[in-house]
Amino acid sequence: MRLVDLVKRFGDVTAVDGVSLQMPPGEFFSMLGPSGCGKTTTLRLIAGFERPNEGQILLDGVDMAQTPPHKRNVNTVFQNYALFPHLSVEDNVGFGLKYKTLTKQESREKIGRALELVQLSGYERRRPSQLSGGQQQRVALARALILNPDVLLLDEPLGALDAKLRKRLQIELKALQEEVGITFIYVTHDQEEALTMSDRIAVMSQGRVEQVGSPEEIYEEPATAYVADFLGVSNLMPATASGMGDGGCRVRLGDFSLVAGKGEEDTMGDAKIVIRPERVLLEEQGTAGENRVPGMVERVVYVGSVIQVFVNLAPGERLQAWVQNTGAGLPFASGTPVTVHLPQEALRVLPDAGTPVSVGAGFGEEET
Ligand SMILES: Nc1ncnc2c1ncn2[C@@H]1O[C@H](COP(=O)(O)OP(=O)(O)OP(=O)(O)O)[C@@H](O)[C@H]1O
Ligand SMILES: [Mg+2]
Repeated sequence: MRLVDLVKRFGDVTAVDGVSLQMPPGEFFSMLGPSGCGKTTTLRLIAGFERPNEGQILLDGVDMAQTPPHKRNVNTVFQNYALFPHLSVEDNVGFGLKYKTLTKQESREKIGRALELVQLSGYERRRPSQLSGGQQQRVALARALILNPDVLLLDEPLGALDAKLRKRLQIELKALQEEVGITFIYVTHDQEEALTMSDRIAVMSQGRVEQVGSPEEIYEEPATAYVADFLGVSNLMPATASGMGDGGCRVRLGDFSLVAGKGEEDTMGDAKIVIRPERVLLEEQGTAGENRVPGMVERVVYVGSVIQVFVNLAPGERLQAWVQNTGAGLPFASGTPVTVHLPQEALRVLPDAGTPVSVGAGFGEEET
């Protein structure tokens, strides 16, 4: 599946603004981005529910941009399941087979296999109202898979489920995708979900693709401040860069001079420096060495596996450090002066492309 310079405008809104992506067969590909960035519109273009203003949608090298939906070997699973309430599970799953020339026996076998795949054998005669949300979602999946699409489009299919069930179905969906071996294009605004399931992720913003990469690449090597901010909690601080030197990029944070060993190391002038909270080290006040800034612990929050420590830095920035919970109790009281170590190899510099949009999707976001 390949998208080439796709553009979709609604009046004066450009919902999709030049998207080019390539998904090899059998890939679990996610589109991740905040509300309104064009995820659903991109899926609807692929499915054929919308026509692009510009660009191509290539499946096996053939442009489908003008092909009607039912002639594309693509199927969609929506957030709200869209099951027929008056039909049994069996009839819901077999619905799309009505247009195929199959004997009753063949249909029954196909339905049986599809239900087995989503672990719902034995539920054939139930109505959707007699199923839990997770089971309904699996019926919707079986209904989409039974038609053997080349590509399955999933638009926030787990959005309506509670956190625990969501986690379980994430693992199940990924296993299912590996078993059936078809391309999944998965839309979500949940970064953790995208990181958990995907082979590759496209991070989107305002109808454009900001970065494409493996979960590890986009988390560890965000290309822009926007991506760094969107992918979980990032400590994003304004700094002034003065180019390469000392094995990285020299940056000033207030009165302090630091070296950033990652990112665009030849950045000059206005910049952002970024560090993940799990990479920030808190040391005893007065600890000497490179890349260290004095700070004061403002607040300590116990969240289970980690302890979040909010620190006010002397240059006026506030950052978050995650300390592993070793069972030894809270490591710092609020009001404790500390030395904050921002290790060179964990500190990333990115050119300042204006103020990043606040995206409201990182966990612990309310704390930042
Ligand atoms: N039929 C339409 N007419 C006019 N504008 C539309 C239409 N569909 C979408 N839009 C606009 O296009 C933009 C992208 O919408 P889209 O539904 O693709 O976003 P999304 O990334 O799926 O968001 P969400 O996470 O909220 O589902 C939005 O600004 C939206 O208001
Ligand atoms: Mg949407």
